[in-house]
Amino acid sequence: MANRFGVKLQSRLPNLAGIYPFSAPITTTTNCSSETQKSRIVCKKRALGCRFPRRVVLGIGVSFWSQFMSMAGIIGGKSFMASARRKGAIEQVLKNVEWPEQFPFRDEDFQRFDESSDTLFYEMPRFVTHIDDQAIAALTKYYSEVFPSSNTPGVAVLDMCSSWVSHYPSGYKQERIVGMGMNEEELKRNPVLTEYVVQDLNINPQLPFGDNTFDVITNVVSVDYLTKPLDVFKEMSRVLKPGGLAIMSFSNRCFFTKAISIWTSTGDADHVMIVGSYFHYTGGFEPPQAVDISPNPGRSDPMYIVYSRKLATA
Ligand SMILES: C[S@@+](CC[C@H](N)C(=O)[O-])C[C@H]1O[C@@H](n2cnc3c(N)ncnc32)[C@H](O)[C@@H]1O
Repeated sequence: MANRFGVKLQSRLPNLAGIYPFSAPITTTTNCSSETQKSRIVCKKRALGCRFPRRVVLGIGVSFWSQFMSMAGIIGGKSFMASARRKGAIEQVLKNVEWPEQFPFRDEDFQRFDESSDTLFYEMPRFVTHIDDQAIAALTKYYSEVFPSSNTPGVAVLDMCSSWVSHYPSGYKQERIVGMGMNEEELKRNPVLTEYVVQDLNINPQLPFGDNTFDVITNVVSVDYLTKPLDVFKEMSRVLKPGGLAIMSFSNRCFFTKAISIWTSTGDADHVMIVGSYFHYTGGFEPPQAVDISPNPGRSDPMYIVYSRKLATA
């Protein structure tokens, strides 16, 4: 059965942004998955001396997936929300999707609790890792399987939303590995980068590179901070070489106040669909695919990949 992406899915999503303006800086990521969000968020807020209002907490966990599934029926005889936790289910999310004609998200889906300047939020460097060691190892292993070999002449790589680490295989080198991010101190310290650019993609989504420049673009645990994702993905398509690979990876953790509301109000399988939709509606990409590389489900951070290649003819 085809996966039908519910056209009405937006109408029942809580518009969380703006309900509770919150600007206290959170320096490490918290669990972002709607399936486990409630307890984790309350804890974090308590640590900061306040709690999310009940209305917001109740809103979290409402998934468009249930709406979608009520239209699409059942996949494999089970609710998708339930089966998303089973190994192999994530890979199914982007199989045979019947996408609505129009991009189904609205402006408010890309709002955040904290709409203050991202420059301010990322002003202080954070020399931390945002996912656990096992998830990092799984991502690095994945990269080692799909990246062009180290030191291949002419290969260029772009790490978007980068920091002091890119999680590339140890010793990985190319003539050109560019990092884009928000904090210069972090980017300066990233050993794999040959150059970096500090740029707020939510203010200026235009990438400062020529057409057909990169063989690979990576983005680790940060696609959920993009408020103009289609503009950014359009640029990604422009700067990728034909056949170039874009790898978006994410877990269930995030800076909650800075992630877009459609992300914080949905779960892991939904996130796969959301990122898949960015590729689909941007155009110029092959149909996106999802991979679950979670190293130790239930015991370490989950890790998901949504990837696509720029069409060879684009
Ligand atoms: C959770 S960190 C992940 C950093 C890195 N990819 C990693 O795996 O450690 C989120 C990153 O997203 C980037 N980011 C957030 N908002 C951004 C924006 N508006 N424009 C560009 N980059 C942004 C920041 O550079 C920040 O380092």
